[in-house]
Amino acid sequence: MILFKKAIDLRKHLDVQRKSGKKIGFVPTMGALHEGHLSLIQASKSATTLTVCSIFVNPTQFNDPADFEKYPLSTDKDIALLLSAGCDLLFLPDVDEMYPDGLTSNQKFDLGEMETLLEGKFRPGHFQGVCQVVNQLLLQVEPDALFMGQKDYQQCMVINRLLQQTGNCEKIQLHICPTLREPDGLAMSSRNRRLNEADRVISVTIYRTLSFLKENLKAGKLDVIQKSAFDQLQAAGFRTDYIVIADATTLQPVTYWDGKQQLVALVAAFLGEVRLIDNLPLN
Ligand code: PAF
Repeated sequence: MILFKKAIDLRKHLDVQRKSGKKIGFVPTMGALHEGHLSLIQASKSATTLTVCSIFVNPTQFNDPADFEKYPLSTDKDIALLLSAGCDLLFLPDVDEMYPDGLTSNQKFDLGEMETLLEGKFRPGHFQGVCQVVNQLLLQVEPDALFMGQKDYQQCMVINRLLQQTGNCEKIQLHICPTLREPDGLAMSSRNRRLNEADRVISVTIYRTLSFLKENLKAGKLDVIQKSAFDQLQAAGFRTDYIVIADATTLQPVTYWDGKQQLVALVAAFLGEVRLIDNLPLN
């Protein structure tokens, strides 16, 4: 695996690879890698001929500075994992490399309702920061395919929109890969390693509650099961930002189901200081 810290070197290398006919797959990450990330690397290796991973903890997408400070870092371990997964190239820029003109940007992405719904509402500015960095990374890597995890359901929708807006949706194929779960159902996430032992036990309630919604979904009013899901989380000790049943393509909350509309349940909740998110397509 070749490691690049400078975008100019990365671009030079990738230009040569592209000319020699390589199809480039890209997996952007913030490090603290786990099997979920490695499954994205595998998906890229199956669909393309050169896999690039980036590790960059992007300051502009953290609306809470304390969350940024505490974001887990494990670069040496990440490099070892990427090597064993057969990743071809790692881009490991620092903040100056990604933001040579400083962190504030005049570029505003039109994210429509994604900016005010769910994560958009509870983490103001988060998706602007995600788009800022992903847009920059895409300019540097110019991949043929981009691999992202369905665990970040709304982020996948936002990136889809970014690709459309930047005229890239024909050029870059977005692959949304399934969420990987621990044996007890907890969605794999870099944030899980911040959970203490007791909270790790409680954390499984998130998946149980999503499964409860799936099992109890019936055409008609959805308010009773949604309230019950919220109560289950609160009773287990979560501070719940939201647990909602939403339209799978617009993410608008659905309170009455006609039995046909495609639905997804999405949740964000704190255990102590750790904010976990998850989702489950319901039908
Ligand atoms: O999902 C993530 O890890 C980040 O939001 C991403 C896409 C790497 C942008 O920083």
